[in-house]
Amino acid sequence: MNAGARAALDGAHVVVIGGSSGIGLAAAAAIKAQGGHLTLVGRSASKLEAAAQQLGGARTVVADIASRTSIEASFASMTRIDHLVITAGSLHTGKLVDTDPDPLLVDLHERLAGPLYSIKAALPWLHARSSIVLTGGQYADRPPSSGAAIVAAAVSGVEALARALALELKPIRVNVVAPGLVDTPLFDVFGQETRSAIFKQAADSLPVGRAGRPEEIAEAISFLMSNGYVTGEVLHVDGGGRLV
Ligand SMILES: NC(=O)c1ccc[n+]([C@@H]2O[C@H](COP(=O)([O-])OP(=O)(O)OC[C@H]3O[C@@H](n4cnc5c(N)ncnc54)[C@H](OP(=O)(O)O)[C@@H]3O)[C@@H](O)[C@H]2O)c1
Repeated sequence: MNAGARAALDGAHVVVIGGSSGIGLAAAAAIKAQGGHLTLVGRSASKLEAAAQQLGGARTVVADIASRTSIEASFASMTRIDHLVITAGSLHTGKLVDTDPDPLLVDLHERLAGPLYSIKAALPWLHARSSIVLTGGQYADRPPSSGAAIVAAAVSGVEALARALALELKPIRVNVVAPGLVDTPLFDVFGQETRSAIFKQAADSLPVGRAGRPEEIAEAISFLMSNGYVTGEVLHVDGGGRLV
């Protein structure tokens, strides 16, 4: 980590919605290592507690990003926020031809309505040098052959949202980190066999020959928070996944 990045986050208060697992937890660890103070937000109190212990201390708040009232309540007792990082999201997939689309819309709600609720609720605590980092994904450019149309629409929308809000909320900076396939508990919903197959296929097809690590996405999130001249940007960290 360079000295500039360390200085930018030293003493900063960073709220990580989705900070109890995977990419958000790795981002929280990177922020903590750079001297930042953390508030972690997620639905599960036990996951938040475990994450706070692993990190050696963090404030935790239970909230569901898809619920406006839950998010508004969680920000009511906040303090000054230097950076807001949103990695919250679960994964619901299914082919449109044989799946009820309504349960899939959870992904749209978590990734689009959720950031809107969160940013709106955070605004009183943000200041001119604050930044917001949203999470998009490779599916915006390269959706899989089937089953992820709504996730793809959601992550595309996240990119558009960030560009529009970078103008609307200026000088607050708004950026997106767009991961490719990253080895996190997100894929536990598929069961071990399918999970292993997904990661083996990635290893075989990606230019870098492997899936990503959460820490590699966390580095990009740190960069987006620290570099004061980057806004409205989508930073792809996908092992070349958009090329194949
Ligand atoms: N892993 C990948 O390959 C990949 C690739 C592209 C994009 N992404 C995106 O990156 C984000 C993070 O993924 P990850 O891989 O780190 O997943 P993860 O390990 O499952 O972590 C997800 C985090 O979000 C929280 N969360 C989920 N739904 C929430 C909700 N409705 N309200 C509040 N918190 C919620 C979870 O805690 P609780 O369950 O306790 O709420 C957890 O802390 C997701 O949006 C995902 O779509 C991931």
